[in-house]
Amino acid sequence: MSLTHFPSGGASSSATSATKITMPALAEMKRQGKLISALTAYDYATSRLVDEAGIDLILVGDSLAMVVMGHDNTLAVTVDEMLHHTRAVRRAVHRALVVADMPFGSYHGAIEDAVSNAVRFVKEAGAEAVKIEGPRVELVRALTQAEIPVVAHLGLTPQSVHRMGGYRVQGKTRETIAQLLADARELEEAGAGAIVLEGVPREVAAAITAELTIPTIGIGAGPDCDGQILVFHDLLNLTFAPAAKFVRRYGDAASLVRVAVERYREDVEHRNFPSDEESYHLPAQARDALKVRAETASHRRTARPA
Ligand code: KIV
Repeated sequence: MSLTHFPSGGASSSATSATKITMPALAEMKRQGKLISALTAYDYATSRLVDEAGIDLILVGDSLAMVVMGHDNTLAVTVDEMLHHTRAVRRAVHRALVVADMPFGSYHGAIEDAVSNAVRFVKEAGAEAVKIEGPRVELVRALTQAEIPVVAHLGLTPQSVHRMGGYRVQGKTRETIAQLLADARELEEAGAGAIVLEGVPREVAAAITAELTIPTIGIGAGPDCDGQILVFHDLLNLTFAPAAKFVRRYGDAASLVRVAVERYREDVEHRNFPSDEESYHLPAQARDALKVRAETASHRRTARPA
């Protein structure tokens, strides 16, 4: 068993004492012209770091199907798997708004079933909002009535990968731009607290952002949104794939991990780890007694006739 542990409640950074971000606080940030920082996270350690770094919104994204579980797309992840990760994130986060992504299939049938699934994210995992993809206006209304804040998601919606025929920038024609604007307005009217705009031209995202009173959070949607979100593993080069055009790598965790793990392996192979200082020791008396016993045993072994 490892002696490594995460002391609960020990987060020491200013993030823990800073004002808690709520869904209404996001709208207030838009009103005040303060940009919203958002990032995905999927486990205790990384969400704690993300929260302590002062990120406003943490999304337990269904992108975990790809970056954590190794699937080719986001479709396979289940409600139970998303709940498992959301709980881990919840335990770590004190300041940021925790939003759980509802996975493919969990909100595509009857509205009552979708609301029941969303309730699980709030009740069983401590999510403060759920995110759903597409212009599901009636569902947003039902969730809002059920006191569940909603982040909507328009543009390139990864759960529609098969319908879209791949991951393609959306909103490039007059008709599709008009549709996106209309969808965004309706989602706001139905009660959505924010809208993720993914994979749309900068100009379209800017127009939607100007039109709405709720914040837009962009990913591959240019700099004019009210906030930005990236996938944690993209930000830190942990995806084993070339970065998309909109990704900026802020660190190289892959190199950091590779170098550290190789050094550890070499140290083990050369008996350079652990050192004497990294070992537990007996008190002097017990050590001496053990030495006497070992010497006696070795003496008996050598004195034994062949
Ligand atoms: O699942 C996810 O990571 C997302 C973001 C890309 C917005 O939906």
